[in-house]
Amino acid sequence: MGAASTPPPGASTSSPAPAAAEDPHHHHIEVDRDLYPENGPDDDDDDGYSSAGVSDASTSLASSILDFKWENNRRYHKFREGEYHFPNDEPEQERENIKHLMVLQLLGNKLFLAPVDLEDGNRTKKVLDVGTGTGAWAIDIGDEFPKADIIGIDLSPIQPSWLPPNVRFRVDSAEDDWLDYESFDFIHLRHMNAAIKDWPQFFDRAYRHTKPGGWIELQEYDFTLTSDDNSLAGDWPYYKCSKLIHQGLEALGVVPHSTLRNPQYLRDAGFTNITTKVFKVPLGVWPKDRTLKTIGMYQRHAMVDGLNAITMGPFTRGLKWKPEEVEVFLVEVRRTIEDPKVHSYFPFHVVYAQRPEETGEGS
Ligand SMILES: C[S@@+](CC[C@H](N)C(=O)[O-])C[C@H]1O[C@@H](n2cnc3c(N)ncnc32)[C@H](O)[C@@H]1O
Repeated sequence: MGAASTPPPGASTSSPAPAAAEDPHHHHIEVDRDLYPENGPDDDDDDGYSSAGVSDASTSLASSILDFKWENNRRYHKFREGEYHFPNDEPEQERENIKHLMVLQLLGNKLFLAPVDLEDGNRTKKVLDVGTGTGAWAIDIGDEFPKADIIGIDLSPIQPSWLPPNVRFRVDSAEDDWLDYESFDFIHLRHMNAAIKDWPQFFDRAYRHTKPGGWIELQEYDFTLTSDDNSLAGDWPYYKCSKLIHQGLEALGVVPHSTLRNPQYLRDAGFTNITTKVFKVPLGVWPKDRTLKTIGMYQRHAMVDGLNAITMGPFTRGLKWKPEEVEVFLVEVRRTIEDPKVHSYFPFHVVYAQRPEETGEGS
């Protein structure tokens, strides 16, 4: 676990310098032609694959003294109310847990790619998971690295209470001051590009709370849905939907394309050894490669089940639509999102960087 070895299918990598993200279109994903009955079956033995029965992911909810807020039949965080525009109820937690499994598959069963050794030496390594959500990543890290000490922070108290002894959670905002936090050997963020608003400020804080020689890693979608074979048309309802989500988030002060700026933000904050690895997350079971097919199935499940969750906040809060208008709009999206002839995918960027060793001003 940890340092990257052979990249899994769909991955492209870049060396430490320059840090600009590579063109993810470089390696095309082969399409599974068996999905087209009119083409006739091919002679390969890739049948028997089912998209049913995705996950029995846990949705255990910690008891908490903190309230929640209900809006359009979805539950949202109450602490720093209105800061984050997606729900935290059980369906949303299940979706986040499915995405956790999906990213693990994508990264070849690695929880991170930065060259950080959490079990090395005689000192306990400190890990911070920012916006930990259900805590799935933090808990896996705790299990895998029993000598490390892990804290996960989130606006929502939705983490389970059965935990490895080296994992803790705390309700807090990553956009508040981090004054009472120690410094860390490793800071991790995943799926946070629609959460953090002031990225330069965030990276300044993260830098100050990274130990000299320590690492930060971000695992983020670039939410620009794309295809390599022009099978994604601009009028495909889900494509239009994703554009509207971006507009809604922009109206709420979120920068939808922040993912692409992360290497520059990291450099500006003082981090070095910035490395970007770009993967492709297919939407649907259209790839022939079995790993990518599974990843696409997870992603489709997360999208189809999550359509209400990912649109309601941006559309009603940001674009001022009525909830009924959102539901009407989603009918067509739902009807067409599983079209196997659309070979779309999201680029997924893993970026990691190091605070230089020689800087001696750690807090
Ligand atoms: C898409 S979820 C990702 C959860 C987790 N990182 C994962 O990959 O499973 C984003 C999480 O960020 C949290 N969040 C949003 N804004 C935050 C902030 N300012 N400080 C801490 N957590 C925040 C949300 O409550 C939510 O749980």
